[in-house]
Amino acid sequence: MSIAASRSSVVKQDLANVIHPILPHRQLEEHQLVIVSAKDSTVVDADGHEYLDGMAGLWCVNIGYGRTELADVAAEQMRQLAYYPHTAMNLPAAALAEKVNGLLGGDNHVYFVNSGSEANEAAFKFARQYARHEFPRQNRYKTITRYYGYHGTTLATLAAGGMGDRKAKFEPLGGNDFVHVAPPYCYRCPFGLEPTSCDLACVKNMETTIQGEGPETVAEMIIEPVMSAVGVAVPPDDYLPAVADLCKQHGVLLHVDEVINGFGRTGRLFAHQHCDVRPDIVTVAKGISSAYLPMAAAVVRNSVFQSFLGDPSENRQVNQVNTYGGHPAAAAVALRNIEIMLEEKLAERSAENGAYLLDGLRTLLRHPWVGDVRGKGLYAGVELVVDRKSKAVMPQAQIKRIVERCQERGVIIGRSGGGRHLGNTLVLAPPLVLTRPEIDRIVSVLDRTIPEICPEAAA
Ligand SMILES: Cc1ncc(COP(=O)(O)O)c(C=O)c1O
Repeated sequence: MSIAASRSSVVKQDLANVIHPILPHRQLEEHQLVIVSAKDSTVVDADGHEYLDGMAGLWCVNIGYGRTELADVAAEQMRQLAYYPHTAMNLPAAALAEKVNGLLGGDNHVYFVNSGSEANEAAFKFARQYARHEFPRQNRYKTITRYYGYHGTTLATLAAGGMGDRKAKFEPLGGNDFVHVAPPYCYRCPFGLEPTSCDLACVKNMETTIQGEGPETVAEMIIEPVMSAVGVAVPPDDYLPAVADLCKQHGVLLHVDEVINGFGRTGRLFAHQHCDVRPDIVTVAKGISSAYLPMAAAVVRNSVFQSFLGDPSENRQVNQVNTYGGHPAAAAVALRNIEIMLEEKLAERSAENGAYLLDGLRTLLRHPWVGDVRGKGLYAGVELVVDRKSKAVMPQAQIKRIVERCQERGVIIGRSGGGRHLGNTLVLAPPLVLTRPEIDRIVSVLDRTIPEICPEAAA
């Protein structure tokens, strides 16, 4: 059966059996995307239509699609050893840990899991366990986190996130473990200030929060350097160093979520490496394997790891296990993925082509509905407003239409959170192999589509 012929049977089979993430089932009944193949930055559907994937899947296929070499790596590892639990050692996981540790300064240990959510879950637990060991007279269990952030989909990571709509049907989510503070979302500064003169009011707000909660109750602070969910919010350069100082001052571990930001997305291998900050915990996923196989990790500085050492009778070891953690085939694929990224200098390419993309996107500011264009590396947001002065958000209906129209024109564009979470930013996080002609095409499709759809909001 040809791919095109099988489309209708796949759709029938799928609708009758599959629960899809996040999309309303009714929407899927009306419109289905069946992707059957992909190469570099282009994906192909069952009807043979090609789409330039401006989102690298879910911000994750960093080295691009169609690297058959990685299939060979996986097959070879599966023939040798497909699986054994990570309570024992295996060659690819040890090699991958050494590689990741080296890229993050060389004084870490790596705990492998399978998704960004699990990596953050593991990190929350490590921070609490560390605090229990190191501050036995205190009860440090809280995580300070930011509104509008996203750190995963499990109950604890949802609680840590600051996306109200995503949490609403599951609340209450535990107790007061996750304490939210204002995000560094400069276009809509929660304090009504400008980045050039704000004196980092949002970091002062964090300090007040830590003092108010009592530092002796706070285990860690989770920070995604460039905030994804709210539409690529890039903080001022001195934000992360100031947060790191604050953490140090109060004995709070700094946990940097590099699940999207990491592995070249922002123009450095890791986004926190744009400044001179060494986090205590770094969580990684997505780009670590470019999604060829599931792989993720919580990377812990040795200053934290040493807290898990001791005589077995002390019971200080990491008290958890993940069946697929350190999976040999996934580890082998992730290692080769990282090598490719380094060989092809994809982080540098992300910086250079990201600047080119941002220049292109800034030309869209000539449309009155484009309120803000921001980004770092191959990672950009175009925030749409009805009115530039009031910054009234472009309604969801128009944003959805723009995304759909771009797709009809062969370009996949993402968008920010949605609902009360401000879903009015178009987002780009393409494969890092994206070419300049492809960047021109993305900009040109947006340039045509925005003025077509946006005036409807004013009508
Ligand atoms: C910043 C961030 N952290 C964590 C996660 C969760 O990762 P996963 O979907 O692999 O569980 C995501 C997912 O998009 C994310 O954007």
